[in-house]
Amino acid sequence: MSLFFFGEKRPLPRHIFITGASSGIGRALALAYASDGVRLSLSGRNEARLNETARLCRDKGATVSLFLFDVTDEVAARHAITQANTFQPLDLIIANAGISAGSFGHGESETTARAIFDTNIQGVLNTVFPALDIFKSTGGQIAIVSSIAGVTPLAGCPAYSATKACVRFWGQALNARFSPKIRVSVICPGFIKTPLTDANNFPMPFMMPADKAAKIIVNGLIKNKPLITFPFMTALGARLLALLPNGLQLPIIKKMPRKES
Ligand SMILES: NC(=O)c1ccc[n+]([C@@H]2O[C@H](COP(=O)([O-])OP(=O)(O)OC[C@H]3O[C@@H](n4cnc5c(N)ncnc54)[C@H](OP(=O)(O)O)[C@@H]3O)[C@@H](O)[C@H]2O)c1
Repeated sequence: MSLFFFGEKRPLPRHIFITGASSGIGRALALAYASDGVRLSLSGRNEARLNETARLCRDKGATVSLFLFDVTDEVAARHAITQANTFQPLDLIIANAGISAGSFGHGESETTARAIFDTNIQGVLNTVFPALDIFKSTGGQIAIVSSIAGVTPLAGCPAYSATKACVRFWGQALNARFSPKIRVSVICPGFIKTPLTDANNFPMPFMMPADKAAKIIVNGLIKNKPLITFPFMTALGARLLALLPNGLQLPIIKKMPRKES
């Protein structure tokens, strides 16, 4: 099998660690990378769904190891990533696991907001610090899944929006600090069809299937793009909104659809 993708003369990573591989974008990424000669280390908390991802990836020829842990558990995350690296040196670690109010089926109550901060920030720190420790000597690639909600503040999901802005800034600064030895990419998707967005009962413009999103992400990572923002129209809208002065920006943000707490 070819370890090259989309005709690019850049090799695909041979060992990839993905958090949140039991569902949605994480599962789609695992499937996009799965092929002969590729090892996947996949993590999540739901064993049945993680096993299903593994089965689908093995059917495509990949060697798969599973790691069941909660990303908010610093010790467990470090242990899993370090152990995976002993099986075969890691080339790419994707900090994808994350939640929104949609994961709970209601709006951002205080409890939900605190859970979002824990998972989306601590979970990313717990994934990225072990990755940095490994790659400081060997070099490698780290991808952090942020969101278009991290490009402009959203009244419908203040905690989610804040966590995604935080990891976006952190990832961009890490890239500036550690590249070219450690290549860090930040991924900012718009609406992608997954269980996370299935809970939304408002219009989601330019919604994209997860397998299409995964192809865009894989392609962006092969090209070593520091920021992978898509779909184009959603990205453009968010960037233009972010450029507006506060007085013009806030009334638009206030009118955006939301789930109520
Ligand atoms: N879907 C979108 O429109 C969209 C847009 C922009 C960004 N994103 C981001 O993309 C990432 C994936 O989201 P998705 O849409 O694919 O959602 P999803 O289908 O709900 O998948 C979320 C994944 O994260 C894992 N996860 C959540 N909390 C965890 C925890 N505490 N410990 C370990 N694993 C945990 C879940 O694993 P278990 O179920 O096994 O616990 C699951 O595999 C998230 O960071 C999300 O914020 C999504």
